[in-house]
Amino acid sequence: MNILVTGGAGYIGSHTAVELLEDGYEIVLLDNFSNSKPEVVNRIKSITGKDFKSYKVDLLDKQRLEKVFEENPIDAVIHFAGFKAVGESVANPIKYYKNNVVGTLILCETMNRYNVKKMVFSSSATVYGMNNTSPLTEDMPLSTNNPYGSTKMMIEMILNDLSYSDRDWRLSILRYFNPIGAHESGLIGEDPNGEPNNLMPYITQVAVGIRDKLTIFGNDYPTHDGTGVRDYIHVVDLAKGHAKALKKILEKQGTDVFNLGTGIGYSVMELIRYFEEANEINIPVTLSGRRPGDVAVCYADPDKAARILDWRAEKDIYDMCRDSWRWQSKNPEGYK
Ligand code: NAD
Ligand code: UFG
Repeated sequence: MNILVTGGAGYIGSHTAVELLEDGYEIVLLDNFSNSKPEVVNRIKSITGKDFKSYKVDLLDKQRLEKVFEENPIDAVIHFAGFKAVGESVANPIKYYKNNVVGTLILCETMNRYNVKKMVFSSSATVYGMNNTSPLTEDMPLSTNNPYGSTKMMIEMILNDLSYSDRDWRLSILRYFNPIGAHESGLIGEDPNGEPNNLMPYITQVAVGIRDKLTIFGNDYPTHDGTGVRDYIHVVDLAKGHAKALKKILEKQGTDVFNLGTGIGYSVMELIRYFEEANEINIPVTLSGRRPGDVAVCYADPDKAARILDWRAEKDIYDMCRDSWRWQSKNPEGYK
């Protein structure tokens, strides 16, 4: 079974590539390395001891994408490739709509052409918007408040229309909550460009001395300690969720959407405390106002994935904190 992994050199894609290879799949990795390094490919090979083809191709380059399908018999696609920085999407919406939405359209068109009609897609809990109350269930109304979120919502709509128009398409739309952690080898992990937008890479960069202190965005939310609550999920659990979703669409017809989260919410203060405790490191913090667009509380109801995919997150918050730190401390400057 040959699986094309778009965005396979990225944070979640690389961990999923490892799981797929360990489950016995063959993979073809595709990435334009706009937000990742080619070194990731060597690391995946050294963790798994397996070889595979990798292509430096941009999804927007239709001809080169077709060549990948021409040269490889693909059975299904796991589609991670896309831009993900919320703030940047507000400043440069065209860049986001073009890369994420047009890129996905070109991919779907090419898949149709080569009669490959099975796809697992990376969506996000951001599609639940600001108005739903956690725990979030898949049937809740969707809305977004930034262009990045809108690209995810639009792509979900496109994929649903596609599967309605042609029942041969089998699609699994996965809404991730907050992935953190890293492979336990410490060889692959999250390597943000420049100043991190997300909490955990910020914490680990403070821990390793790249940054002086962490800024907490708001302590006046209606939560038990006033800081924002999120559903942090270990990236290896998330990767295993992809393997389960893939198995499902390979075996059975149909299109469906699943939350991939733990169902547990931790506040910013709690995450910092668990990180400090797990790794015996002090994280200096400072307080500022709320970050625009942030919700107070966001966590999943993960029950549907448990029932239908037979998947549940297994790693706890200590595993997440330890593994994030192992990656950062072994690779203080990321893949550089
Ligand atoms: P990432 O940036 O580490 O990985 C994405 C990969 O796609 C990168 O390696 C990048 O170089 C590549 N890429 C981007 N545009 C491309 C294009 N046009 N052609 C080929 N390759 C391209 O991000 P990630 O955290 O691994 O996220 C993977 C997916 O999951 C993204 O679609 C993201 O929106 C989604 N997601 C991420 C999170 C999160 O918190 N990390 C949460 C929800 C959803
Ligand atoms: N936070 C800080 N300081 C920081 C960074 C974050 O206090 O330096 C706080 C935020 O205000 C929030 C929490 O930490 O309360 C988590 O913030 P992240 O930026 O790590 O994660 P978000 O929940 O804001 O966003 C993430 C992804 C989005 C995705 C969303 C929903 O970045 O792409 O989860 O799944 F859409």
